[in-house]
Amino acid sequence: MSFRKIDISELCFNPFTKIGKEWMLITGGNMDKYNTMTASWGQLGVAWGKNVLTCYIRPNRYTYGFVEEEEEFTASFFGEGCREALAFCGSHSGRDCDKAKEAGITPAEVGGLVTFEEAEMVFTCRKLYVYDWQESGFVTDDGFPAQFFGKDPYHRAYIAEITGVYVKE
Ligand SMILES: Cc1cc2nc3c(=O)[nH]c(=O)nc-3n(C[C@H](O)[C@H](O)[C@H](O)COP(=O)(O)O)c2cc1C
Repeated sequence: MSFRKIDISELCFNPFTKIGKEWMLITGGNMDKYNTMTASWGQLGVAWGKNVLTCYIRPNRYTYGFVEEEEEFTASFFGEGCREALAFCGSHSGRDCDKAKEAGITPAEVGGLVTFEEAEMVFTCRKLYVYDWQESGFVTDDGFPAQFFGKDPYHRAYIAEITGVYVKE
């Protein structure tokens, strides 16, 4: 299975559905050593005149270390047939198992980074700006942040330039 690079202007989808409902795999590392996790929080847009993807990773995720370590990572999108695989990658840690093997997806190289053969679309992403969410940043007093955090650490946000868009050949 191989991927074909397309121009970002060819993209045509609803980002709210694509990220929020269909989810994506954020994968850091290289073919020798990588980790992946499911994410459903993120944005696509423009900053500093560049096309960017923003994603949010809690520091206690195993994937966090891989994304921190390297300059680039991938965001991979899948069809409905991989729903269970994504659910698996979002509920198990790569610290404890060979996620791809157990989820039934196959690592594949794209643009020198790692994705999966089963992906329908892949973004290669170069980190530009990183910041940590903080309790003091919330300007709402309706209590909603408490639903998400409790004792868990706040997410780190990665604003990353989309350096390549690939679709299944
Ligand atoms: C649908 C779904 C969406 C998720 N979205 C995120 C997210 O945006 N950010 C995040 O840090 N964790 C998110 N998670 C949780 C991680 O995917 C999960 O903790 C995963 O097991 C981490 O794996 P790792 O320890 O191998 O990195 C999500 C989980 C699911 C099931």
